Amino acid sequence: MRTPILAANWKMHMTVGEALAFAEALAPLIGDAEGVEAVVAPPATALHSLGEALAGTPVKLAAQNVHFEDKGAFTGEISPLMLADVGCAYAIVGHSERRHIFGETDEMVGKKAGALLAHDIRPIVCVGETLDEREAERTFAVIESQLDGSLADVPAGRATDVVIAYEPVWAIGTGKTATPEMAQEVHAFVRERLTKRFGDDASRIRIQYGGSVKPGNVFELMAQPDIDGALVGGASLEAESFSRIVLFDRTEESSS
Ligand code: PGA
Repeated sequence: MRTPILAANWKMHMTVGEALAFAEALAPLIGDAEGVEAVVAPPATALHSLGEALAGTPVKLAAQNVHFEDKGAFTGEISPLMLADVGCAYAIVGHSERRHIFGETDEMVGKKAGALLAHDIRPIVCVGETLDEREAERTFAVIESQLDGSLADVPAGRATDVVIAYEPVWAIGTGKTATPEMAQEVHAFVRERLTKRFGDDASRIRIQYGGSVKPGNVFELMAQPDIDGALVGGASLEAESFSRIVLFDRTEESSS
């Protein structure tokens, strides 16, 4: 009932040429990607060309960030209108690097999510606790307040267009993955909060896990009842590795 969504977050990697070569290499590896949704989020400079290359393929285009106004004097920013113009189906908002390095608040993330929906772009809203917060047993409190603020501008009736990405900050780019059980525990909590806010629609909202996902651990993560996909950084930079994540590779199950 929830179509798994596997998304590549390239962060500040990939030139236009590299992005196009990736798209060409990925296509035969994933075929028609039946039963799953594959998404690639390149840096803004590659959005237009990659969007053209992906047209007619099953792979959807995503942005890594957005501003919440349509246009204006916001030097360096890119609007949802512009993302729609280059064919973005999704945009990541509130990634922990945006929150921690660039000071984004839940309020800003909420405005971005609302602005994207107004342009029919689906937000991938990221939440996640730091190591200190986890050790202080504040994980659920942190996730709860991030969700409340970041989803404040999502109108009732649009909830199922939102994707949540639970990414424990201590697992991002560190090689430390949350165990499937740890991730499931938080995913179940996220769904409970979503149910309080959106009622039955919450059962149709997809919740991705992110943080050192790779071919060797994707299968057991995806086997958890509330894990509906993955948001992948490092292991998404090679087409071969990302294709195995899209297809939930089983072959390395024991090596994770
Ligand atoms: P990672 O990054 O897979 O390299 O840990 C995930 C993310 O930041 O979205």
